Amino acid sequence: MKIPPLQIGKIIVPLPIIQGGMGVRVSLAGLAAAVANEGGIGTIASVGLGDIEQSKRDFDGVSREALIYEIRRARALTDGPIAVNSMGVLSNALDLVKTLVREGIKIIVSGASLPLRLPEMVDDDSVNLVPIVSSGRAADIVLKTWSKRYNRTADAVVLEGPLAGGHLGFSAEEMEDLEGHSLAVLLPKVLAAVKSFEDKFGRRIPVIAGGGVFTGADIARLLQAGAAGVQMATRFVCTDECEVSREFKQTYLDAEEKDIVIIKSPVGLLGRAVRNPFLRNLEADTLDKISCPYRCLATCDVANARYCIALALSNACQGNMEKGLVFCGQNAFRIHEIVSVKALMAELRAGLEAYPEAT
Ligand SMILES: Cc1cc2nc3c(=O)[nH]c(=O)nc-3n(C[C@H](O)[C@H](O)[C@H](O)COP(=O)(O)O)c2cc1C
Repeated sequence: MKIPPLQIGKIIVPLPIIQGGMGVRVSLAGLAAAVANEGGIGTIASVGLGDIEQSKRDFDGVSREALIYEIRRARALTDGPIAVNSMGVLSNALDLVKTLVREGIKIIVSGASLPLRLPEMVDDDSVNLVPIVSSGRAADIVLKTWSKRYNRTADAVVLEGPLAGGHLGFSAEEMEDLEGHSLAVLLPKVLAAVKSFEDKFGRRIPVIAGGGVFTGADIARLLQAGAAGVQMATRFVCTDECEVSREFKQTYLDAEEKDIVIIKSPVGLLGRAVRNPFLRNLEADTLDKISCPYRCLATCDVANARYCIALALSNACQGNMEKGLVFCGQNAFRIHEIVSVKALMAELRAGLEAYPEAT
């Protein structure tokens, strides 16, 4: 099919692919810039960027400096569009959003809870606000709230389905019915929800679908179903440019389908991860008791949490799999090699081009 460019506000990219934010130093400047250089949108995840030891001293300051460092590093590597993923559940979310706006970032993608207050954190109209939702109802709630409170709408919406990696916006019961919550089922509902706000604000609100997207043909099917683009994360982990540890990537390469599991995260959401030594220790209840010097999450119930998720994700990023939580999408087991971002983007582009036009 002919590849339609993706437009978010004034930003236009030739390949309708956003590399999804992956927190705690999985999607950093190197990966985001490489994707932007290949015609997509790269995303730096703002959560957990600071050195975990130094963060004990000054969590907000260390996080802020680390975000500034990553944004400037990306800028040095590309002129293409770089987004930043923010999470409203962070105790320092406001500080990070203000920082990325000051650093000139023009796309904020916000997930892990409905970003109902995002517009009041950003007083620059040229910054594109992109909420992540998991249902038509959630899209409606966010857009209604933004319209009523701030007289503004989203510049795009990411629909994240139940096959995604990291934290998920679905309940345990919903996860029992993956078919009923597939992107094919959810996308028309989200398109319908944004339609009335497109009419009200007189502009298009592109819907970007993600969660389990693996091939160019997957992308083509979603575009033909009305998506303006896709958000993909898992496939970008096993690229040369992803700066996570070799052990993290190897965990994906070694994973079989049965190893990919749903966990309950201390954030209060379900998440998807590879069952590795850390998760086996968690099941066996042999983990150390936690103490929390950071208070990084507004929603973390520290007294009852069985582990510190920031520390567990950071350990995985550094290659300590006995103590590391490895988030992944449902399709991680289908990855068999580490490739360059250039090769991955070329493969996806070729798959899209080879897909027949809708009749
Ligand atoms: C390792 C990993 C970490 C992630 N971290 C975040 C995050 O910090 N914030 C967020 O909004 N989404 C996060 N996600 C979700 C991705 O941005 C993306 O939307 C989703 O994984 C897409 O599905 P896919 O991985 O099957 O392509 C993460 C996903 C993975 C695999």
